[in-house]
Order: sequence, then C-alpha cells, then structure tokens
Amino acid sequence: MNVSIRKAVVSDASAIASININTWKVAYKGIIPQDYLDSRSIVDKIPAWSQRIRNLGKNKKEMFVAEISSQYRTDIVGFSMGGRSSYDDYDIDGDLNAIYILPKYWKQGIGTLLFNAIVKSFLDMNYKTMVIWALKDNSACNFYLKMGGIPKFHKTLTYGGKKLDALGFFWENIHSQIKF
Ligand SMILES: CC(C)(COP(=O)(O)OP(=O)(O)OC[C@H]1O[C@@H](n2cnc3c(N)ncnc32)[C@H](O)[C@@H]1OP(=O)(O)O)[C@@H](O)C(=O)NCCC(=O)NCCS
Repeated sequence: MNVSIRKAVVSDASAIASININTWKVAYKGIIPQDYLDSRSIVDKIPAWSQRIRNLGKNKKEMFVAEISSQYRTDIVGFSMGGRSSYDDYDIDGDLNAIYILPKYWKQGIGTLLFNAIVKSFLDMNYKTMVIWALKDNSACNFYLKMGGIPKFHKTLTYGGKKLDALGFFWENIHSQIKF
C-alpha cells in the first residue's frame, strides 16, 4: 500500500467531510445516539471544512491528509488537524483536534503517520505539551495510550442530547516522548 501524507488544501474539503461523517458512524455507534449520527450530512459539512482549511494559517492550525495511490487513482483515506490548545483550565501548548481514518484502513499504520505529522508541526512551533480529547468509550483511547498519552483530564460533552464522558490524553514533553 502506497500511503503518503501531505498538507490539506481547500479542494480536499468534500473528501474530509465524507471521511468525518462516515468514520463517526462506525467509531461512535452505540456511544453517540444513532439519530444524531444519521442526521449528519456530508454536503452540509463541506462549507465548514472548506472554511477551516482556508483559515488554517490565520488560526495557527495544521491539517494533513493521508492519500493512497495506485496506478490509476489516488484517494484520501484519512486526515488529522491540530493547533494551539484552548483548554482554559491548564496551560497546554498543542491540541490534536481531530484524527479520522476510514474504517477499512484502521490498524495499518496510517494513524501513526497522521499523528506524527501533527506532532512534527508542534515541534516546529516549539510546543512541548500536547492534549487530545476522546470520548471515554471510544476505542481510539487505546491508540492514544499506545502513542504515550496519559489520561489526565476529564470533561463532559453532549451529542444528540446525551451526556458523554471525555478523557484528555496528555503528553508532558513531546520532544522526548514521541519517537519518529
Ligand atoms: C484511532 C485511529 C486514528 C488510529 O489509526 P490507525 O491507523 O488505526 O492506527 P495505527 O495503525 O497507526 O496504530 C498504532 C498502534 O495503535 C494500535 N491501535 C490503533 N487503534 C486501536 C484501537 N482502536 N484499539 C486498540 N489498539 C489500537 C494499533 O494496533 C497499533 O499498535 P501496534 O503498534 O502495537 O501495532 C483510527 O482507528 C480511527 O480513525 N478511528 C476512528 C476515528 C476516531 O475515533 N478518531 C479519534 C477521535 S478522538
């Protein structure tokens, strides 16, 4: 499998919206109310993703996509996004806001590539500490543990009227903790 990582551009917005909506349906099945998952539309979300990509520089964020190429075509199969943390309770440098890969491609190393791309951008900005928030029941928590995150913070998020526990995985020093 030929996987490459590159910075996101505005024309990726529809692929990113599609990955986000479709991956939510699988990853959050049985966690977030089904009505809410079913109600989210790819077409509705494209403008917001276009806007996010357009404003990456202004908001000091980075976004990467993972592409798989064959002889005939190239498909975007995942993305990651991160930037300055806005978690008020603690002074944390970086926040990996989102990392989503189409289920068919899970556990093939693409998450590590997309995670590392964001961490490298944080290192370039001299960030030291990093947080990632995940719903407590999301099996992605195991991925963050593998990547060296410590479940340190808690908050409650509400989706589709249901209150859900979220964990904040913390990296105290990405310079020494993350090996590329
Ligand atoms: C979480 C996610 C990004 C991980 O990406 P991935 O490509 O599957 O991860 P990798 O293949 O790079 O895995 C790295 C390691 O983590 C492990 N891992 C990954 N996902 C795991 C899971 N759900 N449960 C247990 N271990 C997991 C892998 O087995 C691998 O371990 P190894 O080094 O011992 O082989 C991906 O599964 C995903 O998109 N999930 C759904 C969306 C989601 O929940 N995103 C996070 C929102 S907070």
